[in-house]
Amino acid sequence: MIKKEKTGWKKLSMVVVAILVFAGCATQPTAQPTTVNEAKDKTASGATGAINLDSYTPPSMDKVPEGPLGESIKYGHKLMNETSTVIPEYTGNKLSCSSCHGNAGMDATSPLTGVTAVYPQYIPRSGKVLTIEDRINGCFQRSMNGKPLPYNSDEMRAMVAYLTYISTDVPVGIKERPWIEKNDMKSVPQPNVANGEALFQKSCMQCHAADGSGTGPSSGPALWGDNSFNIGAGMARISKAAGYIQRNMPLGEMGGIKQGSLTDQEAADLAAYILSKPRPDFSKKAQDWPAGGVPKDVPYEVDSSKKKQ
Ligand code: HEC
Ligand code: HEC
Repeated sequence: MIKKEKTGWKKLSMVVVAILVFAGCATQPTAQPTTVNEAKDKTASGATGAINLDSYTPPSMDKVPEGPLGESIKYGHKLMNETSTVIPEYTGNKLSCSSCHGNAGMDATSPLTGVTAVYPQYIPRSGKVLTIEDRINGCFQRSMNGKPLPYNSDEMRAMVAYLTYISTDVPVGIKERPWIEKNDMKSVPQPNVANGEALFQKSCMQCHAADGSGTGPSSGPALWGDNSFNIGAGMARISKAAGYIQRNMPLGEMGGIKQGSLTDQEAADLAAYILSKPRPDFSKKAQDWPAGGVPKDVPYEVDSSKKKQ
């Protein structure tokens, strides 16, 4: 990269900024060696051309090509990690994409590796076929409580370039992505909110703050309140929140609880406690699942189910 002097100072300084940003990201707590992610086989590399369907690892950010495409991929990576600081005009909260899709979607928390190979895709919540850009904007409007990125913007192009890079060698239209472990609790036990509160105080508030407002998008993102995801987000459904918490939280170990050791009941109690708290509304929520089939744990009424009654 340093060889690039010929391209002029402006470009060089962009490269330097990208390097600094990447170096900064590498020290984030998401890279803790105690997480489930580290336990995964990191030896299979998509970059070699051989896809191990059990554990796909995307090519490293160190291998991003030089030139305009590489710059775009790196900008997309930065946007994933620092969404609400780099483009605050499109985000309504203080989260980043990495607040849920750990390590810019490269960790096993909620991986986005291989994602560009499976879009366009029909999404029942929208009742239509969504492109990868549409799906990115779904998270912008719900999980980030913000506004859709213009499709014709350098930011959208950078996010697609980055997601395509971390999908390298994944065959288009692949039916299954076995490395994507689902953060979904299939059958959620009847939750006990008071027990959820006790567990929260024991093992969660150290990073997420006692009032749920968080300590930072990459140290402990906001779980409720104005700076968290809105009611229309996937995480606002108890099946998704409980599944995510059970598999990923607490990060490492806290208050005597190790990551991955919460029972279904405990994860459900924690999710119910977090979801019992106030959070931003989503104004277009009634238009969700226009063709019906709304899942039971969606915390709002949609127009399509009113019509049937
Ligand atoms: C509050 C948590 C949260 C945040 C923040 C978040 N997402 Fe998501 N995202 C989710 C959940 C939950 C899903 C749905 C997973 C499922 O279908 O079970 C999802 C799904 C996706 C998908 C589709 C994945 C697939 O396999 O079909 C993409 C793409 C995506 N998010 C991109 C982003 C981007 C880009 C950002 C930042 C602008 C972002 N997300 C921020 C929680 C979040
Ligand atoms: C050591 C710090 C730490 C502890 C303890 C911790 N978390 Fe997290 N949590 C994080 C970080 C950092 C993220 C961002 C995702 C990542 O990096 O993997 C996160 C993400 C989340 C998210 C998704 C993002 C959001 O804003 O909704 C939820 C939900 C969550 N944690 C719940 C919990 C619960 C419940 C506990 C207690 C069992 C807990 N966390 C304990 C650091 C922590």
